[in-house]
Amino acid sequence: MSETIDFKPGLEGVVAVETEIMEPDRDGGSLRYRGVDVEPLVGRVPYENVWGLLVDDDLNSKMPDPEPHEPARLTGNAPADLQAETARLAGEWKLGKLNEISDEQAREDLGRLSAQMMSIVARSARVADGHHDPVADEVVARGKTAAEKFLLRWRGEADPRHVKAIDTYWICTAEHGLNASTFTARIVASTGGDCGASLSAAVGALSGPLHGGAPAYVIPMLQEVAATGDPARWVAEALESSKRIMGFGHRVYRAEDPRSRILKRTAEELGSRHIEVAEALEEVALKALQERHPERVLATNVEYYSAVVLDGAEISPALAPAMFACSRVGGWSAHILEQKKTGRLFRPSARYVGPGERSLPSLA
Ligand code: COA
Repeated sequence: MSETIDFKPGLEGVVAVETEIMEPDRDGGSLRYRGVDVEPLVGRVPYENVWGLLVDDDLNSKMPDPEPHEPARLTGNAPADLQAETARLAGEWKLGKLNEISDEQAREDLGRLSAQMMSIVARSARVADGHHDPVADEVVARGKTAAEKFLLRWRGEADPRHVKAIDTYWICTAEHGLNASTFTARIVASTGGDCGASLSAAVGALSGPLHGGAPAYVIPMLQEVAATGDPARWVAEALESSKRIMGFGHRVYRAEDPRSRILKRTAEELGSRHIEVAEALEEVALKALQERHPERVLATNVEYYSAVVLDGAEISPALAPAMFACSRVGGWSAHILEQKKTGRLFRPSARYVGPGERSLPSLA
């Protein structure tokens, strides 16, 4: 019987894996993928090569283009479509169980799935826009990068400013250690489940507002703040009624999130329409959160300016979790492969705190 350690709600501070993929510098506010600082990558290499860096530890390697595939029945709800279709692909492509296939086969499966997942999100977004006819392959093939092809597959056109916004967002949010969705992917991989099962489970974990869903709340919040015209009063009232201000606070970072800095600069460069109110709200929110919680740093997190950047690319808040899933295909794939190579089946313990033994008659 293994030794049990103290109960940690949310497993905070519990080291569950050793990883070579991402290193957050909690106090200095920088972020490195396989030792490479993320900031200089933005604008120099496209997302698909960052995928290669994460998965293969090689910036010259890249996520492949998606192969021809017709999704079963898209609803236009992108996270739900993505989760269902990714799981279905495992059956359609007859993917092997991770404990039965080679590392090379798993890498190939992850590449095929990652590329297809982006394509599914683009197709689902197109359905949500009311277009049920797919964009012709020749049109999509005109795109030079994954971000450009994504937009072409979705809208049939790709504004270069929108391409830049998406590529920057995808690179900044491609990987972030053992967050809830990545942990989920590793848990499924640890059971030997196939790559489709691991990735679709991760999509489900990402869909909640405390993880990948936060940008969906940021734009409506900024609109509400803009309508009041008084960010300070809005913040005071929100905190008074114990509301959380979306886009602030982080489990790991105790300094400004470096990704937030890059995304803020991108939002400014793109002239995003909510940038002014976002900056005004950020200023008062940081001050108020610091006064209310002097014991901890509640800084701007990645979701806040992500929302502003995505809005600049005319991406609706509802699509934000699926856009986040597109970025994370790189991080998830790298972790699934690492789990396959080095990991052990996850099986934490639960401490029973329920009633003592009860007889059936006592329940009658
Ligand atoms: N707005 C207002 N108060 C916040 C807050 C926020 N964004 N984030 C944390 N707090 C407060 C909590 O209310 C709590 O106060 P209390 O002790 O008086 O109840 C305290 O700070 C600690 O919160 P806790 O939930 O334990 O912190 P955490 O480290 O577990 O949470 C988050 C991290 C991200 C879940 C949390 O900061 C949050 O909910 N942020 C808003 C959602 C968001 O932006 N998510 C995207 C994450 S990248």
